[in-house]
Amino acid sequence: MSTNFESLHDQFDREVASVSDAESLRALRDRWLGRKAGLVTDVRKQMGAVASEDRAAFGKAFNALQQHVEAGLDRVSAEIANRERDATIARETVDITLPGRAAPLGHRHPITILRQNIEDIFVRMGYSVEDGPEIETTFFNFDALNIPDGHPARESQDTMYVSEDLALRSQTSTVQIHAMQRRQPPLRVIAPGRVFRRDTPDATHNPMFFQVEGLNVAEGITLADLRGTCEEFVRQLFGADAPVRFRASYFPFVEPGCEFDYQCFVCKGTGCRVCKGSGWIEMGGAGMVHPHVLRTVGIDPERFSGFAFGFGIDRLAARQFDLDDIRLLFANDLRFLEQF
Ligand code: PHE
Repeated sequence: MSTNFESLHDQFDREVASVSDAESLRALRDRWLGRKAGLVTDVRKQMGAVASEDRAAFGKAFNALQQHVEAGLDRVSAEIANRERDATIARETVDITLPGRAAPLGHRHPITILRQNIEDIFVRMGYSVEDGPEIETTFFNFDALNIPDGHPARESQDTMYVSEDLALRSQTSTVQIHAMQRRQPPLRVIAPGRVFRRDTPDATHNPMFFQVEGLNVAEGITLADLRGTCEEFVRQLFGADAPVRFRASYFPFVEPGCEFDYQCFVCKGTGCRVCKGSGWIEMGGAGMVHPHVLRTVGIDPERFSGFAFGFGIDRLAARQFDLDDIRLLFANDLRFLEQF
């Protein structure tokens, strides 16, 4: 029995040419190289029947056939793998030239903008920024600030009490006490933060608002230092020609006490809608730290003196950004906040 190697080669070449995917390739491999019934295996089985003088030639032809089949299968297998990889790449390719979706950028809250400006101005003047608790004992909120029992500011319609002797602080002046307890003079601190009062919200009131407290205690501090500091602060905040004026006033924790105003930045003092015709805008309270307060925190009032001031950031923000309702600052309406 003779084997037609040439026609087997041709047959294999025809069959392998029509293979298009991994599955038909596997079937073809079985058909030709399968251990039991593969066509190449069949040829090997015929080896025993070949006459011994023809066996060498048969073996050679058999090896050539086997190599031809294996090489053909491997080539097609590589082609299929390549094609699949190309298809995967095409499917998963990202078009980096497409315009992206921009991540929305946040905005600083107007109160934050102003608070940071204020902090920068005072830090340049040698102040450090302090923090204090928003829930305080009545000692810090009142007693240490020389606000005795029975003082109207202690009554619950102003202060939000958490318990009998704990309250949400009604002023940042509490941080004066913490600062003086923590450190010996000379000390210069500002303390921006939230304060709380039992106010009905309206265009100019909110039960939670922001104040900045300032405190400067050292030897030889006078009212002139307070005035110079407030003038310099207002000048830096509003520009060169923003005069400040002081009016006598009363706060239990300062003596003498005053309120300070700055000249209206819209009309420059002639009177307009923003300053309600007076030419001046109220800024806050101030004064020389009361000797009782100094003694309470263990500072000798014979040796040291100091000034303190406090003002609202929200009112300043409302004027600076021309808001006609202070509640806009607390409503968290993105349409408002995105304008800053
Ligand atoms: N704490 C006062 C207020 O809330 C302001 C103030 C601070 C006055 C410091 C004098 C000194 O109105």
